[in-house]
Amino acid sequence: MHHKIIIEPFRIKMVEKINMTTEEERVEMIQKAHYNPFLLTAEEVIIDLLTDSGTGAMSAEQWAGMMRGDESYAGARSWIRMKNAVQELTGYEYVIPTHQGRAAEHLLYGKVGGPGKVFISNTHFDTTRANIEYSGATAFDIPIDEALIPSSEHPFKGNMNTEKLRQLIAEHGAQNIGAVILTVTNNSGGGQPVSLANTKEVSDICKEFGLLFVLDCCRIAENAYFIKHREAGQQDKTYKQIAQEMFSLADGAVMSAKKDAIVNMGGFLALNDKRLFEECTTVLIITEGYSTYGGLSGRDMEAIAIGLQEVFEHDYLHYRITSTTYLGRKLNELGIPTIRPIGGHAVYVDAKSFYDHIPVHQFPGQALAVELYKLGGIRACEIGSVMFGKTAEDGSLIPAKMELVRMAIPRRVYTQSQIDYVVEVFAELRNHKEKVKGFKIVKEPKFLRHFTAHFEPVG
Ligand code: F0G
Repeated sequence: MHHKIIIEPFRIKMVEKINMTTEEERVEMIQKAHYNPFLLTAEEVIIDLLTDSGTGAMSAEQWAGMMRGDESYAGARSWIRMKNAVQELTGYEYVIPTHQGRAAEHLLYGKVGGPGKVFISNTHFDTTRANIEYSGATAFDIPIDEALIPSSEHPFKGNMNTEKLRQLIAEHGAQNIGAVILTVTNNSGGGQPVSLANTKEVSDICKEFGLLFVLDCCRIAENAYFIKHREAGQQDKTYKQIAQEMFSLADGAVMSAKKDAIVNMGGFLALNDKRLFEECTTVLIITEGYSTYGGLSGRDMEAIAIGLQEVFEHDYLHYRITSTTYLGRKLNELGIPTIRPIGGHAVYVDAKSFYDHIPVHQFPGQALAVELYKLGGIRACEIGSVMFGKTAEDGSLIPAKMELVRMAIPRRVYTQSQIDYVVEVFAELRNHKEKVKGFKIVKEPKFLRHFTAHFEPVG
């Protein structure tokens, strides 16, 4: 029998209380937070979809692993376990533990970056771009054209445009390319997968020109699920085999373990190149910690080793992807426009088209994030002109390419009824959408303004 209900493939053994608030209270709290959901406390939130990073629930096995954690400074048993798990998965010989993804990025891109260097990706995640630019290098995003059309149903919208890759290599010279990076899945592009065929093509080009090819693999298991179920000829492989094949096509990987290793903190850099590994290790010891723990406790490394196994189990991955799709499909049925197809870790609502009466300089995405909170206590994240907009010399807004609101789903945390609640809030929100007004920024810092900016409603 085919069941419509998504049965969470776990039981709940320990619960965390949610503070139930009223709409009245929330109207007041969001005003106090200057209409910026980042400035709310977690206690003020009912369903927190701000990020899927570090917000997952660990399994009983992982918690047991926490107790077994070996906290020795050098050569801890837990480090050996983590190293073995990473080596077995990636096939790379050299592993560097870090406290999270961006620390691994900082080590690698700090080494191979620098003024005059060029990095090319399907889409650099914010921290990736920031680390590259901080080194003095330049970062180019070249997703396929379909990636920028929210309604396009292309099955692998995370793919890189390989024609543009060749153009950029010709333009800048192979010797100036710091690295070519595939972000799997492509977070900034909607959590969309990259195909094995595209990975192979990128790999071949990198080999042809002798370029360093890196996977940003934080959602590699989710990406493998899409490959198995969407890409011709891949259905008989296991998810892990697909991931291993992807790794075998690249020269190294950076991972934020806070995603597909289902831990609350951790990351790594894995490489085949011994010299690069040794250079990065020197910086690691100066900035993060000794080479057998990076910035991590032994117990964190133990949990990573276990999470990297659990994440590839069919029951987990199937539940994970179908439950994200479930939320997206329900919203689409209500007429709520989203990036299509629904990605792996999040649903991205197209706020520009949903609130088509709010001009982009009044931030329709921010307006939607505030409405979601007021009506349902749901916290989501604007990914539009608040986050990526720039200010022109005359003070006007240079808008972002899209005005999105991301609802990222923490792993193994919310049940289907809680997701149904989110759907119900959207159904209600749809009924008075014309009345919703935009926002203006009244205070903003110089960098990464979305985290701390203050807003006021327009009119
Ligand atoms: N790469 C990608 C694709 C990411 O999504 C993230 C983090 C990182 C690198 C950096 O990892 O946070 O462990 O330092 N993404 C989080 C998010 C923050 O909400 O999407 P980190």
